[in-house]
Amino acid sequence: MSTANPSIDFPTSAPEPRRLTRAYRFTSVLLLAARIYSGYKAIQLWSRYFGQERKEQRYRRQDLRAARALHAAAIRLEGLLIKACQFIATRADILPDEWVTTLSGLHDSVPPRPFSTIRHQVEKELRRPLRAVFAEFDQTPLASASLAQVHRARTADGRNCAVKVQYPGIDGIIRADLRNLMFTLRLLARLERDLDFRIIARELLKYIPMELDFLNEARNCETLRRNFAARPDILIPEVYHELTTRRVITMELVEGVKVTDIEGLTRAGIDKREVAQKLIEVFTEMILRDGFFHADPHPGNILVQPGPRLALLDFGLAKDFSPRFRDAMVRLTFAILTNNREGIISAFHDLGFRTRDDSPETFLMLADLFLGNSVKRNRAYADRELIGEFAEELPRTLRANPIVEVPADVLLVNRVMGLLSGIGKTLDSQVNLFSTLMPYANQLIAQQNAAAK
Ligand SMILES: Nc1ncnc2c1ncn2[C@@H]1O[C@H](COP(=O)(O)OP(=O)(O)OP(=O)(O)O)[C@@H](O)[C@H]1O
Ligand SMILES: [Mg+2]
Repeated sequence: MSTANPSIDFPTSAPEPRRLTRAYRFTSVLLLAARIYSGYKAIQLWSRYFGQERKEQRYRRQDLRAARALHAAAIRLEGLLIKACQFIATRADILPDEWVTTLSGLHDSVPPRPFSTIRHQVEKELRRPLRAVFAEFDQTPLASASLAQVHRARTADGRNCAVKVQYPGIDGIIRADLRNLMFTLRLLARLERDLDFRIIARELLKYIPMELDFLNEARNCETLRRNFAARPDILIPEVYHELTTRRVITMELVEGVKVTDIEGLTRAGIDKREVAQKLIEVFTEMILRDGFFHADPHPGNILVQPGPRLALLDFGLAKDFSPRFRDAMVRLTFAILTNNREGIISAFHDLGFRTRDDSPETFLMLADLFLGNSVKRNRAYADRELIGEFAEELPRTLRANPIVEVPADVLLVNRVMGLLSGIGKTLDSQVNLFSTLMPYANQLIAQQNAAAK
């Protein structure tokens, strides 16, 4: 079995003061966006005036150039740009391979900080010399991502563990990015008055800072571990609380193959389609049954062991529904699966969606977008054809009857569905959504009915 990430061939990154300033970060991203946009625009214009031949080739070359430029910027700036790239790199379902392949190293192979910095951070947090706490501590990180790097170690009492150490100064970087993002959202809100960007802003401001508190991550991890205690095929690592603080979390070391490493899965004798099936089941249980879910299932956060057994990692971003909201999500899923128009409309209402004139078209369209179309087409992931259909229809429906209220709670569900769709495509998922979701929906609806009596 291969480990999470056997080789990291990036140079280590050294913090550099100007990277921290908001204006520098904002301008860098803006210039990058302008460069990428103008690259695509130039091909479009060229093809219009000078002919269509080699257009596809030109686009693919531009995809690669753009993805490389974004990758370089993400490594230099770190922070939220890495998180955005992790999302892009998961969307193999709808994005060209050039983007996905170029950026996928950012899931778990970001240039790490030098060991001296990490050692200092651990000793400051645990208030003891490294030697006093760990019998062994690997100087080369096992993996590194947007907020932290992870080192293999052995505790003084002999347990193998993974020590996740927050990059010093990353909180300042994230704060600067969040403020820039809020500024951008305010600008967009002025340009596009039909969409309410405050809801997105509120969710970001609530959840991103929580990721920086590893005590919160430890609590999320414990909750999921309890919820999946009965499933031996799901591994949630045990947290070692005595070696955990706000910026260092020590937990059980997990071995496994990255979920999108198809060659690695094959070598380990793991059936990728079984993995895809299990992923959908686990996330359905989290979202519909427990109302508590891991909200960042990008491939760097999922390892697979033979069985297959799925190991989830990185619990910084988790979402807790109120029981009422969870029940309405169950009703919505059930109504979509059974193609029940009234049920769909009333569930959207119960969730807190409002449209301007309350006519059903917008809700029915949303239901198709969320799940309905995938169920009807028996496809466990989105594809460009599906996006193409909605790209035409959705703006028209929304202009006729705009959504005036979106419950903030659905944003992270959508994020999870997007990530799972991307992973599903990479795994060549054959999951039958109807027959997978229906037993859960039936059982949960029966429970709701019994509770209502
Ligand atoms: N318990 C563990 N055992 C083995 N490897 C681990 C463990 N925890 C994390 N890792 C590895 O370390 C990487 C980085 O850890 P983690 O994802 O928790 O950091 P992060 O900075 O919060 O990530 P992200 O950028 O996804 O928010 C993971 O992608 C995974 O490869
Ligand atoms: Mg991670």
